[in-house]
Amino acid sequence: MKKSTMLGSGLGLGLALIAFATATTAGFAQGSDPAQIIRERREGLKAMGAQMEAMAAIAQARGDTQPAIARIETLQNFFANFVERFPANTQAGETRALPAVFTDSAGFATALTNLNTQLSALRAVAASGDAAGFAPALQATGATCGACHRAYRSR
Ligand code: HEC
Repeated sequence: MKKSTMLGSGLGLGLALIAFATATTAGFAQGSDPAQIIRERREGLKAMGAQMEAMAAIAQARGDTQPAIARIETLQNFFANFVERFPANTQAGETRALPAVFTDSAGFATALTNLNTQLSALRAVAASGDAAGFAPALQATGATCGACHRAYRSR
C-alpha cells in the first residue's frame, strides 16, 4: 500500500517534469510557426510594459522598493535571451520590428545590453531600499527601452 503510494507520487513528479520541459521548449520553439513566435514576443513585451508601469507607480509614490525586486527579475528573465525571439523568419507579418533588427544584429544586441545593464543597476537600488534613488534609476531603464524602440521598432 505504502509502496504503491510512493510509486504514484514519483510518477506524478516525473510527469510534472516532462510537462515543464515541454512548456519551456514550446515557449521558444525556433521551428514553430513564425506568426506564433511574433505573437508570443508581443504578448511578452506587453507584459513587460505592465511591469514598468507598476514600478512607475512605486516611483511616483516613493513607496517601498522591495516589491519591485520580483518585477525587475521578471524583466531580467524575459530580456536575458530576447534576441532569440527574433529568428529570421519573423521579419514579416504582424510585427513592428524594423528590418534593422535583422540586418544590424550587433547594434540590436548592444541596445539589449544597455537595457540589461540598467536593470542590474535598478535591482541594486531596489534591493537597497533607496526610495529616492528608485525614480531616476527607473527612468534610466525606461530610456534604454525607448532607445531600442527608436532604432528598431516602427511606429
Ligand atoms: C533591444 C531592443 C529592445 C529593447 C531594449 C526593448 N524593446 Fe520593446 N520592442 C522592441 C521591438 C523590436 C518591438 C516590436 C516587436 C514586434 O512587433 O514584433 C518592441 C515592442 C514593444 C512593445 C509593443 C508590444 C505590442 O506589440 O503590443 C512594448 C509594450 C515594449 N516593446 C515594451 C518594452 C519595454 C517596457 C522595454 C524596456 C523594459 C523594452 N520594450 C525594451 C525592441 C526592444
